[in-house]
Amino acid sequence: MASVETSLFDLSPATQATQRNTVLGSEVLAGLTHDPKTLSPWLFYDERGSALFEQITDLPEYYVTRTERSIFAQHAPEIVARAASGERLAVIELGAGTASKTGLLLSATAAQQGSVEYYPIDVSESALVEAKRHLERTLADVHVHTRVGDYTDGLGRIDAPGMRRLVLYIGSSIGNFEPADATTLLRAVRAELSPGDQLLLGADQHKAEPLLLAAYNDAQGITAAFNSNVLHRINRELGANFDVDAFRHEARWNAPKSRIEMHLCSTRAQTVQIPSLGISVHFAAGETIHTESSYKFTDQQVLSILHEAGFALRQEWKDAQGWFGVYLAEAI
Ligand code: AVJ
Repeated sequence: MASVETSLFDLSPATQATQRNTVLGSEVLAGLTHDPKTLSPWLFYDERGSALFEQITDLPEYYVTRTERSIFAQHAPEIVARAASGERLAVIELGAGTASKTGLLLSATAAQQGSVEYYPIDVSESALVEAKRHLERTLADVHVHTRVGDYTDGLGRIDAPGMRRLVLYIGSSIGNFEPADATTLLRAVRAELSPGDQLLLGADQHKAEPLLLAAYNDAQGITAAFNSNVLHRINRELGANFDVDAFRHEARWNAPKSRIEMHLCSTRAQTVQIPSLGISVHFAAGETIHTESSYKFTDQQVLSILHEAGFALRQEWKDAQGWFGVYLAEAI
């Protein structure tokens, strides 16, 4: 726990815990009193949720992580050379998790400039501890400075004097946002950067529906466990009494919105108490909680978001099947 430099920023651990709980409570209150019921996907990522997500990334059906990794494996030196354009890079990663794919980019950067300062930002402290341990053990010339927090609150505080910032927002995490919110987020990122700084964005692409559905409804049930984990978390951290087995994992393709949706479907009529929020929540049989959207993109959609957020595309890379896209853009 103590081995990361935390930065919700200069608060005591007890204050941080209280603040996180308040944020958790207000998210859950807003989501479960909303019609239709929703929960934000960032609620998945407690310690167990982060570990389950790591397992998802290794599933045979979940092509996302391995496809993006194959692009980095093939093109990392070219990506970082293009990003640097002869300057020294400082690498910042939004929603870094355990940074399992980032090593390819960091080692290419270290090879190019001798060493690299790396600033991973994530809401999961346990994931950052793992990232730092793994990277510092395997890559001697990478110096890891972890930041626990939301994407944009960490960003402005990183000074990298004389360096060009390369902000990584990979893994198609952008896909969790409604298109308008994705633009707002990237605009906030842009506001923390200077002209010439670089953004590397990973975005999952449109593809055949059966491939998409399988990726979010794997045969081993790991995605189902990841989805249900949010109810365990609410039980534990907010004292709720969800009967987790009375909710079924469901993945749907919403074609008009071009997104996968994950839901938890109540298998019967039931009422759940959440004493710490002072509410009880009724579910009809078959009613769902919408727990995640995962948008799938075309080039055109990505380019329009980048453009509206104040970035200009410099280059893009795809795998041979066109399943995943990696976009390098410059702050203008
Ligand atoms: C981390 C948001 C990219 O949408 O594919 C994986 C999360 N959810 N399986 C995704 C996720 C279910 C993932 N992102």
